[in-house]
Formats: sequence, C-alpha cells, structure tokens
Amino acid sequence: MRQLIVPSVLSSDFSRLGEACVAFERAGADRLQWDVMDGHYVPNLTFGPDVIASCRDLVSCEFEAHIMCERPEELLPRYVEAGCQWVLVHPETLRQPHRTYQRIRELGAKIGIALSPATPLTHLDHTLDLVDMVLIMTVNPGFGGQEYLRTMEPKIRRARQMITDGGWDIDIEVDGGISGDTIGGAAAAGANVFISGSSLAKADDIAKAIAELRQRAAEAVS
Ligand code: DX5
Repeated sequence: MRQLIVPSVLSSDFSRLGEACVAFERAGADRLQWDVMDGHYVPNLTFGPDVIASCRDLVSCEFEAHIMCERPEELLPRYVEAGCQWVLVHPETLRQPHRTYQRIRELGAKIGIALSPATPLTHLDHTLDLVDMVLIMTVNPGFGGQEYLRTMEPKIRRARQMITDGGWDIDIEVDGGISGDTIGGAAAAGANVFISGSSLAKADDIAKAIAELRQRAAEAVS
C-alpha cells in the first residue's frame, strides 16, 4: 500500500506561506494540506480559496483542502478553482452528504470524508462507493501542535477492515499529532496517508524529517 507524507501548512509562518509550500515540495512532500477553518465548526479561523490560489502556481504537487466549516457546500467550487485536487469535508457539517460527494466529483476533485474523533464510522455507510479517502482525525480539529489521540487507532483499524471487506481502493489519512513517535502506530493500524504540521514546521531539516516519517511508517508495516 502506498504511503504518503503530506505537510499541513497550518503551522507555517502565515506571512511566508508561498515559501513554505516551495520548501515542503523541495523537501519531498507528496502533496500539501490546507486547513480551512471558519471559526464556527471549529474555534479557529484560517484561510480561504484566495490564499490557496495565491500559492498554487509556486509548486506542482497536489493540494488538499480540508474544510472545517459549517455549510461548506456553497464554497466547494472555489476550492477546486483555487487549485485543490482533493476536497475533504466533515459529513456532520453537510445537509446532504451523498449529494455533496457527487458534487465534488462533478467539480473534478477527489473526495475525502473527514471524521472528527467522536464521529462514528457509521457516517461512512452507503457512501464508500463515492469516495477516494477517509480522514480519521487524531486530534480534535482546530489547532496544530495538539497531542496525538492513540485511542483513535482501533477506529483506524476498523475503517481499514470496512474498506478491505468492501474491496475498495480507498486511502486512510490521519491528521493530528503525527510525528516520528506516533506515525508507526497509525501506520500499523491501517493508515497510509499522514498529515504532519508542527513536527515538520519546527524541523531544522524538513527533508530529513520527511524521510524519517516515511521510514518509520514503512517499518511499521514491514
Ligand atoms: C488540525 C488540522 C491539522 C493540523 C495538524 O485541525 O486539521 O492538519 O494542522 O497539525 P499537527 O501535526 O501539529 O497536529
């Protein structure tokens, strides 16, 4: 199973986001995640489509928009226009999840269902045929630098089992508190895409830090 390392730009210096994107790509990032927060669904406010668009042409790697907003349906096209190949939404913020997943596909983007720690896997029922990725949050969404919730590993394992039993080719992404000390547990539980914010943003050598994460994840499943 492929394993991807995806920096979140949330912990980067907001006054130099473009430089951060270029540095992450040069350091070997597989793609970049933009944490879009509205101050309602989560108690933080970050950036919208225009900021993402301003960095789009600086790098060639794919962008993920992880949308942590109430009623995200209205802005979906703006994120795809801004250059996001992936759109991740929280089903509990959607009035019509199935229709919204179809809409993201129609817009030409790949779909991720993002589940906050207390959101049960039943939110995946009857929709796995539509999606490309399941994001299991390993912190409560809203901030970088929080502690990894090891209690989410059984949930990752069950999600991987659901996907395998269904014969789906669906990635499992984890997000929150991922570092050299925690990535192994998440990988062993069945995750294969790893978001990392603060542990990469504070690394002296990002390329070395990404390589270490990749090695720890590979070791955990070998
Ligand atoms: C939190 C965000 C995460 C965050 C991860 O709500 O969704 O992407 O940036 O940052 P770390 O790796 O510092 O927990």
